[in-house]
Amino acid sequence: MTEPEQLGRYRLLRVLGRGAMGLVYEGIDPRLERRVAIKVILTQQLDAAQRADYSARFVREAQAVARLNHPNIVTVYDFGEEGDVAYLVMEVIEGEELSGYFDADQAFQLEFTLEDAVRMTGELLDAIGYAHQNGVVHRDIKPANIMLSAQLRVKLTDFGVARLHDRHAPAAADSEVVGTPSYMAPEQIAGQVAGPRADIFAAGIILYQFLTGEKPFRAPTLGALQHQILYDRPALPSVANPSVGPQFDRVVLRALAKRPEDRYPTAAAFRQDLMLALRGGAAGDHTVAITRPPDIAMSEADNADVANDRASDADGSDVDASDMDVGGAGVSAADACDADATVVASAPWHRGGTVR
Ligand SMILES: Nc1ncnc2c1ncn2[C@@H]1O[C@H](COP(=O)(O)OP(=O)(O)O)[C@@H](O)[C@H]1O
Ligand SMILES: [Mg+2]
Repeated sequence: MTEPEQLGRYRLLRVLGRGAMGLVYEGIDPRLERRVAIKVILTQQLDAAQRADYSARFVREAQAVARLNHPNIVTVYDFGEEGDVAYLVMEVIEGEELSGYFDADQAFQLEFTLEDAVRMTGELLDAIGYAHQNGVVHRDIKPANIMLSAQLRVKLTDFGVARLHDRHAPAAADSEVVGTPSYMAPEQIAGQVAGPRADIFAAGIILYQFLTGEKPFRAPTLGALQHQILYDRPALPSVANPSVGPQFDRVVLRALAKRPEDRYPTAAAFRQDLMLALRGGAAGDHTVAITRPPDIAMSEADNADVANDRASDADGSDVDASDMDVGGAGVSAADACDADATVVASAPWHRGGTVR
């Protein structure tokens, strides 16, 4: 695709951001005289079947977000097609990707308090809970899909792999594995139905990052990462960052429970418990450590917990490592970078798929 200057009635001005497949422009809607953000999907390196698949997915994305009207979720204005380019017109979100803060190269600097971290996670949970109530499971909650304004307000974007729940149809097993390895819940890794509680798991990972500056699961290969997510209990946030009170440990561990049914049942319940932890703890003006803590060694106690987790996961668990080919051929490069990229693969993974 050559760089378009116009899509439908919208004039394109510059590139605002890009994901693995999407390119987002700043544009102008001359009719309403307002700035807009316009997302297109880059499909030139795909074959015809994949292109059809991504087009269908893009329409689903538009439909998913169009259902949602929430201050912490990007607003969709329009969806159109020009030749073979489909485009999604949205509000322009002023701000930075949260990943720009979390990434090792620290694309931008932020100072925030524990209260800010809890409020931002609360806004994310508001957005997630609202989406769930409207039958939308995001399935790719991660810092690259969250924009943060200069006032530290949260906007959730990129419903590119969202699932629309049909309340009247029973949930079938997913025919595809989607998500981003570092943020995938155990059941997502196993190719099982990624319901609302998969989003809760991912929000738990983001809360952990807000509290400690680190991801709870980090490994040099995708296979090892998936193994950790399936079986390991992360270092407690209060151990990883001593300025975080232990009352947050319980909240994080519940959000990151291996079995979906052990997690918070709703985003609202998660949010409520998080607020309680903030009030119950020594609130005040603690600044969350924004220098990256050194790699956290697991304590003896944590290791014992891991053993317990393994034992409890072994009994008729909903996630069975034998169901899946961890780090299988479906995901080719096993370096740490890929762990932050959205994956779309037909299940089971070893039958191959695309890493976006
Ligand atoms: N409405 C918007 N306003 C401003 N920037 C946006 C908007 N939507 C997306 N972006 C930027 O573009 C990037 C890619 O968009 P995204 O929808 O995540 O694409 P992909 O599906 O490829 O991941 C985002 O990470 C963000 O930086
Ligand atoms: Mg994205």
